[in-house]
Amino acid sequence: ETVEYAAESYDLGGHDTYMHKEIAEQADAVDRVLAGRIDDRFATVHLGGLNLDPREARAVRRVKILGCGTSYHAGLIGAQMIEELARIPADAEPASEFRYRNAVVDPDTLYIAVSQSGETYDALAAVQELKRKGARVLGVINVVGSAIAREADGGVYVHAGPEVCVVSTKCFTNTVVAFGLLALHLGRIRDLSVKDGKRIIEGLRRLPDQIAEILKQEPEIEKLAKQYADARSMLFIGRVRGYPVALEASLKLKEVSYIHAEAYPASELKHGPLALIEPAMPTVAIVPEDDLLEKNRAAMEEIKARSGRILAVAHQEQEKADHTIVVPKNEDELDPILMGIPLQLLAYHTALALGRDIDKPRNLAKSVTVE
Ligand code: G6P
Repeated sequence: ETVEYAAESYDLGGHDTYMHKEIAEQADAVDRVLAGRIDDRFATVHLGGLNLDPREARAVRRVKILGCGTSYHAGLIGAQMIEELARIPADAEPASEFRYRNAVVDPDTLYIAVSQSGETYDALAAVQELKRKGARVLGVINVVGSAIAREADGGVYVHAGPEVCVVSTKCFTNTVVAFGLLALHLGRIRDLSVKDGKRIIEGLRRLPDQIAEILKQEPEIEKLAKQYADARSMLFIGRVRGYPVALEASLKLKEVSYIHAEAYPASELKHGPLALIEPAMPTVAIVPEDDLLEKNRAAMEEIKARSGRILAVAHQEQEKADHTIVVPKNEDELDPILMGIPLQLLAYHTALALGRDIDKPRNLAKSVTVE
């Protein structure tokens, strides 16, 4: 498989930064990761490069996902999708940790390496260590023909197109969508019903328009960014599906704005972070309309009671929050794909308001190819 992108895809195309361009491109990027893969007849997807026949796929007893930085966060969401849709126990771990801990390599586990560049040294080393021990490793990779893509037994290309900004935005979104496809595929080989398969396919098809709808809110998000740019530190909270969204949003903010940010499961607030709540430490709350809505509302109440400011990302206006960014609702399992997108814009506009070097944050590199 080779993919050639036109020279224009490396231009700024009228944007001031690559980060802005790459955020703005996400509806088209998601179209690309879906293109040609949906199989309506069997309510599943075709993933041509997987190299995993149905019998092998059924024999998988666990899934372990490895990546670094944003790719690790995409893997956390991917693991939840695989558990939910395929009912295979799955988790994600930083590749950089995995490779140093003499992990037990289990023949019934499917290992998946996630990487935008396909060149991150820690992820590559983890893959090589796994292969040396006889494991089956797939890649969820953006750059076609990259080192990890070559080393893996098969995988899914995420087709986000070239990503130039050091901080990852569109590739994160496409990677999570690719995990949605993989989870649907594994689910339909197992016990996911045709009805649920169709439901997920319809949800996937709605994503590009819903992304476009979120991006239209940029002027309001820019205003919010200016209001929160004075924060000394920010707390990001979410639960279950919302927690990896919080982790990624907090990483985005620290990388580009240099504001300290920390993500916490909302369920753990009372075990520590509540002590930090004061007006100078605003909270961003991920509040999807799912089974945990009431629990999330209660967490916001706890923060309000301690005079914390709250910005919610939710499917409808939240009265406990000072501000709400309303995002379109998708299927519960796919909601995490959309909920982080307005927070990419929040990080971008915060960094812009603070005069940061957005495409090349200090001390960071696009891909870390050394030890
Ligand atoms: C660097 C970049 C991050 C990226 C991470 C993993 O730290 O600054 O934006 O998420 O590497 O990169 P990869 O290419 O493996 O996804």
